[in-house]
This record gives sequence, C-alpha cells and structure tokens, in this order.
Amino acid sequence: MNNQRERWTSRTSFVIASIGSAIGLGNVWRFPYICYENGGGAFLIPYFVALLTAGIPLMILEFALGREMQAGAPSAFAKVRKGTEWIGWLALMVIMLIFFYYPVIAAWCVDYVIFSINLGWGADAKAFFESDFLQLSTGPGVLGSVRWPILLGLAVFWAGVYLCLFKGIKVLSKIVFYTVIIPWVILVIMVIRGLTLPGALEGLKFYLTPNFSALLKPGVWLAAYGQIFFTLSLAMGTMIVYSSYLPRGTDIANSSFIVSLANCGTSFFAGFAVFSTLGYLAQAMGVGVPEVTKSGLGLAFITYPTAISLLPFLPALFGVLFFVLLITLAIDSAFSAIVPYVAGFTDKWKFNTKWVLPIVCTGGFLIGIVFTTRGGLYWLDIVDYFANTFGLTLVGLLECIVIGYIYKAHKAREYVNEVSEFQIGRWWDICIMVITPIILGISFVWSLISLIQKGYGGYPIWATFVGIGIYVGIVVISFVLMTVKRKEG
Ligand code: ALA
Repeated sequence: MNNQRERWTSRTSFVIASIGSAIGLGNVWRFPYICYENGGGAFLIPYFVALLTAGIPLMILEFALGREMQAGAPSAFAKVRKGTEWIGWLALMVIMLIFFYYPVIAAWCVDYVIFSINLGWGADAKAFFESDFLQLSTGPGVLGSVRWPILLGLAVFWAGVYLCLFKGIKVLSKIVFYTVIIPWVILVIMVIRGLTLPGALEGLKFYLTPNFSALLKPGVWLAAYGQIFFTLSLAMGTMIVYSSYLPRGTDIANSSFIVSLANCGTSFFAGFAVFSTLGYLAQAMGVGVPEVTKSGLGLAFITYPTAISLLPFLPALFGVLFFVLLITLAIDSAFSAIVPYVAGFTDKWKFNTKWVLPIVCTGGFLIGIVFTTRGGLYWLDIVDYFANTFGLTLVGLLECIVIGYIYKAHKAREYVNEVSEFQIGRWWDICIMVITPIILGISFVWSLISLIQKGYGGYPIWATFVGIGIYVGIVVISFVLMTVKRKEG
C-alpha cells in the first residue's frame, strides 16, 4: 500500500485475500446464532436465495467497479459520477463502525485462548463470561471501568493487524494464505470432533431440518439478506479496493462465484462443528437442542465453552483450537477493513501510507476502548445493529442504484463479460436493478418502522437516539469528505 497502486502477486492471492475477508467471525460466531434464531435449518433456504439474488451479483458489481476504476470506494464512485463519491465514504464509515467493535470480540478470543488452557471459565461459563470476564454493568448508561484483560487482548490484536499490513499488498498476498488455510484446517478438526460426539446427530437434525413455517416470517428473510452482506464483506468498500489491486484484464465473474461459494460453504460447514457440539451439550444436560442457548452473542463464549468443558478427551486442546480459529478468522477480515480505509485517504489526498496506516490502527484501537469497558457489550450490540441493519443496507441499495441506473447495468455487464472466464446473463441486470434494491429497500423501511415503534433491543430510548445520532453522523461526515478538494497528480 503505497501511493503507487500496488498489485496482488497473483490472481490466486487476490481470491484468497477476498475469501479471507469474507470468512470471519461472521461464519462461526454470527452465522450459527442467526441460523439458530431464525428457525434452524429453515434459515438455509432464504440464506441461499439471498446469496444467489444479492450476494453474488453485488460481489460481481464491486469487483467490476474496483477493477475498472482502479481506485478505492470513494474515488471509484467519483469516477462513475462525481456527486456519488459520498457513497464510497459511507461504505468506509460503516466498516469503520464495524471495525471499532469487531477487534474487541477478537480480543475476547485472545483472552479465551489463555482461559482454555485450564478451562478457566469453570462450571458456569455464563456467570464467568458476564460477571467475571466482562463484569457487565447494569446497562448502556453505565460504562464503568475498562476491563484490562480485554484491553490487553485488543492491543495484541491491533498490533498483529498492523504488523501484517505495514509491508504492503505483496507481503499481505503471502500472509493471507496462512490466515485462510489455518482456520480451514482447524474447522475440519472441529467438525470431525463434533460429529464423533454422542448426541451430535440431534444437533445436526436441528440444523438441517427445515421448519417451513419460519419462511413465512419476513424477519427471517431480512436476517438472511443482512447476514449475506456481512459475511461476504459487501457494501464495506473491501471488495472494491481489493479488486483495484488487480491488473486490468483479470477475470471477475468466476472470482466472484469462487469467493462467495467458498465463504458460504465455510459457514455451512462450520454449522456442522457448532450444531454437532450443541447436540452433544444438549444430551449431556438432558435438554433439547433449542434449550442449550438462548443468547446469540453467548454462543461462542458461553455455550461453546460449556460444551468444551464436558468433552471427554483433551478439552483444553479443543478450547485453544476453537478460539485460535476465531482469531485467525478475524484477523484477515480486519485487514480487509483497514485496506479500504487507508486506500480511501491515499487515493484522494495522496497521503503516505506509512503514516495513514498507523494512524488508522491507533485510532481503531483507541475508539475500541469504549467496548472494553463494563458497559461495552451493550454498545457493541447497538453499534452492530445500526451498522448492519441501516449502514450496509443503505450502501448496498445505493450501489445498486448507481451502477444499475446511472452507470447502467448492461454496460457494467458487458464490461464484466469482456474479461471474465464465463459470461453472465441478463439475470444479473435484473438482480442489480430490481430484486436486490427492492429487498434492501423493504428491509430498510421494515427495520425503521420497527425501530420507531419499539426502539432497539429493550435498551432505554436514549440509547436508540445515540445509535441514530451515530448513523446520521457518518452520513454527514461522508458528505463532508466528498466536498474536501481532491489532490490531483
Ligand atoms: N465478512 C466478515 C465476517 O464475516 C466481516 O466476519
């Protein structure tokens, strides 16, 4: 990453880096609990529909935009039409919000690797997580003191991210092979371990048996589209900037399919590790699978540790493996949040990456400290909700409108087909111009109505207003950044 546009060492590095960006905590931490909360196996149907109608088409769109414009999100949009540059900045603002809290979850994992060595969460993983580890305050209004073990974990994680990035794209090309292959190897071990546990089949039955009545609930469909955006790192500027480091003339369509399918295949596969273990836990506790966890966020930090403690063979090893898995998943997703950010500034104002990178990493670390406080979990939840439900949805919707109607979908498709290993048909235009924007529009309005009626998450109403304030703030900042004069040359 210097001011001369760099290049991936090969197309394979680009594809692997994009897979690394996509595969993250979203696959092992978020996917199973969203699946769990939305009807188990039934969720797989809207999930794959969302993948085909929005995920892959948007991935093609973002790869095409970055590769053709050879710029990060803000400058790429500016090249399509000057007044749309703010959409690129908005994408970066949304990913900035996500990557204030995301490394804090990675920091928990750093701590939990250490706890795993002697199963430090003891007999009651829930009490340990909430009372001993997070020392949860009474609500978002009480931030309380910083939790030092989390802060330390956060510093370790950010230092790791900086060290992997400071040598630029060429070195990153090599690192991503490890950060993608290691989690895959660990996942295979976890799946084999899970499937050989008693009760695993019950867990898998819950995972794979569709409960078709869940499909009648619009919320299940909206959750599927939201998860597809998050998991594929779409509408974050990531895929735009990653493809901007590709030389002109490299394939787009096939790479999009490979990245999307590898990511969703990994989520599906990870589900086997998680649900087989949940099946085991349910059997060990003498309850049904749906009863073993009620808490979404707690799946990785309460339910899984509980199950690990009950493992008959080398539980500490599997604990360490599980949390190392989460760290390696998170780190390359973190790269993919920092790179677009740095590129956004260096593309527009020709700043030196040598300075922008440490500033971005230090800023991310410092703001992340809010989430290491005793009330941090509440804010993590609130920011996650606003960034995903309103941020990614709005950026995705605007991307479709700009490319579909201003740039023209057929022109973008012709460009993709000129360079790709196989041709995409008119179905792509329909997805970009009609299906995806309609679904994202409905999702946005639906969530807005629910927010107005109920606020968010049972928190005091002022917390919802703070969330709205942050959201409006990032939209305003995006406009301001657009208006600042570009440095030419
Ligand atoms: N795509 C990344 C994840 O799933 C952000 O964690």
